[in-house]
Amino acid sequence: MGNITVFGSQWGDEGKGKIVDLLSADVDYVVRYQGGNNAGHTVIVNGKRYVLHIIPSGILHEGKICVIGNGVVLDPFVFLEEVDALIAKGVAVSPDKLIISPKTHLIMPYHRLLDGCREGAAAKKIGTTGRGIGPCYEDKVARRGIRCGDLASPETVRARIEECLSEKNALFTQLYGREPLDADTVFSGLMAIAPRLLPYLRDVSSVLQNAYAEGKTALFEGAQGAMLDIDHGTYPFVTSSNTVAGSAATGSGAAPASFGKTVAIVKAYTTRVGEGPFPTELDGETGRYLQNQGGEFGATTGRPRRCGWFDACVVRESVRLCAPDTLALMKLDVLGGLDEIKICTGYEVDGQIVSYPPQTPGGLADAVPVYESMPGWKEDISACTEWSALPENARAYVSRLEELTGVPAGYISVGPDRAQTIVR
Ligand code: GDP
Ligand code: IMO
Ligand code: MG
Repeated sequence: MGNITVFGSQWGDEGKGKIVDLLSADVDYVVRYQGGNNAGHTVIVNGKRYVLHIIPSGILHEGKICVIGNGVVLDPFVFLEEVDALIAKGVAVSPDKLIISPKTHLIMPYHRLLDGCREGAAAKKIGTTGRGIGPCYEDKVARRGIRCGDLASPETVRARIEECLSEKNALFTQLYGREPLDADTVFSGLMAIAPRLLPYLRDVSSVLQNAYAEGKTALFEGAQGAMLDIDHGTYPFVTSSNTVAGSAATGSGAAPASFGKTVAIVKAYTTRVGEGPFPTELDGETGRYLQNQGGEFGATTGRPRRCGWFDACVVRESVRLCAPDTLALMKLDVLGGLDEIKICTGYEVDGQIVSYPPQTPGGLADAVPVYESMPGWKEDISACTEWSALPENARAYVSRLEELTGVPAGYISVGPDRAQTIVR
């Protein structure tokens, strides 16, 4: 068996954490390969709730090695807080259970500040999580970022901080009217925690390549969703990393040939946090129904998630980009109680019906959804553990989504707990 990749196929918060936790039972390594603590994954095991932002959701299983790859951006302060919070909940976290690539870039206090300044000042907001994700990736690409491995070389860290602040302090003071950051304070703050971070550093690429050669398996855990991909998403309303499944290789240093199965995490309806086009968004009562039934409030920022009908064009695009072998269809239970459920099967764009997001300058903002309607179901399905136990209308809905996306739903989730999953 090859390595497995799990990715979000919409705008994030599809329920990736729950499925990663479930599938982690069968692999040796669980790897994060992109994004940072903009992610928020809620996992419920035997009624106990865990919210993970940066540490892979596989940490809740014993005997697994969790990995933070080079494609991730790591806020070292948030990371250590998460380590401490897990330990306080009785989850073992130590360098023999969790490793970080020395090539992983560090989110610095000036990245967070810049993210906040930009969102505060921008006429056209992105609605970022304010965690410094974009500014950190900018410094990575500009070749002045600080990588985890640099922590072993205080002179390098000091020089990079000075290089970054010489530019950023001009922005803080002259453009945003803020106080400059002091290089000494930033440097000493980081170096004070460096001794706690250094033991986690290992050459992730070689660890994963050797593991694969020995017949061991890894699960690659994507964050965000394909529509938030920096290249393929609804630009500019996207995050700053590649969220498509192909990014698992570049973001970890595992070779593309070592990848086997791909699992697309798909919510049975659609949600989005932050700004940007959302053709099937429901502003009225039904939107609020989905929001309340689905508990659609962000795990990272607590913001209410915008809710809408299932959009087959969005998921088809993700399927085309990532070629999943199977869908994990999440939160089917949330649709229970509705008389009618709509599905967007295509868009009208300039008088034509299309099946994929338009590649026009306006993109999804130019798309008018075309709907078909299906009857809902009233039964509570949250205790169903077999396909045959689902009401007929629920089965018909799932079958229609499989038909529209061209991918079978191998997993159907009917509640947040690990156990509330139908495996087909
Ligand atoms: P992620 O970012 O993709 O990992 O998703 P989040 O954890 O941010 O959001 C998904 C939310 O839905 C979490 O609160 C989960 O506990 C919850 N959840 C996951 N699967 C199901 C499901 O099948 N039914 C219901 N009702 N909730 C679910
Ligand atoms: P998980 O992994 C949903 C969104 C933000 C904003 C945009 C850019 O939990 O699915 P950023 O802070 O990344 O620069 O913000 O991306 N966003 C997410 N939305 N789930 C996420 O992660 C997200 N991570 C970022 O709301 O619109
Ligand atoms: Mg989330």
